[in-house]
Amino acid sequence: MTSSTSNARVAVVTGGIGGIGTEICMRLADAGRQVIAVDLATRSDRIEAFREHVSAYNGAIRFEPCDVSDFKACGGLIEHVERSIGHADILINAAGITRDTSLRKMDPQQWHDLMRVNLDGVFNMCRHVVDSMTTRGFGRIVNLSSVNGQTGQFGQTNYSAAKAGVHGFSMALARETARKGVTVNTVSPGYCDTPMVAAVPQDIRQQIISDIPVGRLGTPADIARAVVFLTAEDAGYITGANLPVNGGYFMSF
Ligand code: CAA
Repeated sequence: MTSSTSNARVAVVTGGIGGIGTEICMRLADAGRQVIAVDLATRSDRIEAFREHVSAYNGAIRFEPCDVSDFKACGGLIEHVERSIGHADILINAAGITRDTSLRKMDPQQWHDLMRVNLDGVFNMCRHVVDSMTTRGFGRIVNLSSVNGQTGQFGQTNYSAAKAGVHGFSMALARETARKGVTVNTVSPGYCDTPMVAAVPQDIRQQIISDIPVGRLGTPADIARAVVFLTAEDAGYITGANLPVNGGYFMSF
């Protein structure tokens, strides 16, 4: 466990108090990063629980409120981080929601709400850090995609489209920043032991688990390990890649 240091690389993690986000924050702090966990201000009880959970990190993990679907708010957040802590060297876009229902029942609100968080949110955050990262010649961006962006999933036309879009976005941005020391990659979790997956009806969830070759749900630690790997100082030759962490649920190359 590391305490905050003035020359530590600054990592911004959206969805930072979520099931996977919290673990990513802690593992990045363990790797010596100064971490800013970003999430909605409205989740006050969970913010308090998060603060308590990471209190042993002695300020190496801080919370900042921001709605990633709001472009201006993301700009304000990054400005605030730059003024109070330093430039963002690492950005992890882990904020995401589901609005599962078959397309024949999906209303435009369920489509747009999901796109605004899961896809616009990635643009909104990356847009506000990319100039500074390329100018300073270092950056690590990891966007959380999903196995369901690779395979599609019944009831997830919105989510699958957004998550596939996240990888397309990441490959394009990787090309734009490759010569400037900035890598952009995706991590695609499979089904993990998180509240999001717990919300899948039990019979469907059981069927999915029985189809996972490793024989269990993933853990947030399984995902955080991949994120820490891609954000390392010496990970500069891995860019535009997708790292699947799905227990073998979907294999491809
Ligand atoms: N495959 C095939 N058929 C299915 C099905 C499936 N997975 N799910 C439902 N059906 C069938 C039903 O049996 C029913 O059939 P009948 O009409 O013959 O009775 C019909 O499809 C129901 O269709 P509906 O249009 O009524 O579907 P719905 O609006 O009720 O939606 C659902 C069903 C709630 C979306 C359900 O399919 C579901 O929960 N699916 C799983 C979604 C899922 O995996 N979400 C992942 C969340 S976690 C996550 O996203 C994290 C990550 O990155 C992995």
